[in-house]
Amino acid sequence: MSKPPEAFYHSSVCALLDRLHDESSNQEASIDASARKQVREALKVNLDEGIRLQDNLMRDKFIAFDKDKSLFVYNLILSSGATNIVEIGTSFGVSTIYLALAALENVQGKAGGNVRAKVIGTEKEESKAAIARKYWAEAGKEVEGVIDLRVGDLLQTLRTDIEEVHFILLDIWPYVALPALELLLPKMRDGAIVVTDNTISSAEGYSDLLKALRDEKGPFQSVTLPYSGGLEFSVYKPRTG
Ligand SMILES: C[S@@+](CC[C@H](N)C(=O)[O-])C[C@H]1O[C@@H](n2cnc3c(N)ncnc32)[C@H](O)[C@@H]1O
Repeated sequence: MSKPPEAFYHSSVCALLDRLHDESSNQEASIDASARKQVREALKVNLDEGIRLQDNLMRDKFIAFDKDKSLFVYNLILSSGATNIVEIGTSFGVSTIYLALAALENVQGKAGGNVRAKVIGTEKEESKAAIARKYWAEAGKEVEGVIDLRVGDLLQTLRTDIEEVHFILLDIWPYVALPALELLLPKMRDGAIVVTDNTISSAEGYSDLLKALRDEKGPFQSVTLPYSGGLEFSVYKPRTG
């Protein structure tokens, strides 16, 4: 597991994050395997029906990004200096807290306080967005203050008001991933990082996205990291000149 910096351990949100990860894991372990199978099968034969079943099954679930992956992402953001972050798939907002903490750390002491941290979250379910906001309030005013949650279908909510993007976390139903990335592409800075969850376990659903990320002609350089279910680490390197 990647090691968080000392400052992270002293952060008062540590206990909150541990609690939320535990709740998420317990909840996930209790999801009926046959309901999951029904969603998988439906997605193969009828996308709309599959999405409907998946949304119904997951409407009251965390399905939070794993803790080890979250810490890796947190460190990646620190090392890349990213301050403008977009999260594709927010749910109850667990991973969003890591993104906000890292972005906040990256602006500390910078340019006389003129560089702002911003994390755009995206969640289509109003009920999930309300719960996310509650946890962010628990995480504190600083965390809460940098998150701009867009509620609704992200393929609509991300069409406007996007500044240069430094980091993207794709933690979403696979069929939305490539359209979301395409929407953000014109705003991505050279060297922007994209992290995509479960690219081994959901490789079939992600096939279009992975083709784009792994295209030898670019504009991404991509590698699959051996986290549970696979984690794709991609860097946007458009050829210039
Ligand atoms: C895997 S969860 C995200 C988990 C979150 N990153 C975390 O670690 O807590 C994916 C979320 O994306 C949401 N979602 C799915 N399709 C969406 C869409 N088109 N627009 C916005 N949100 C969507 C789902 O409702 C679900 O809550």
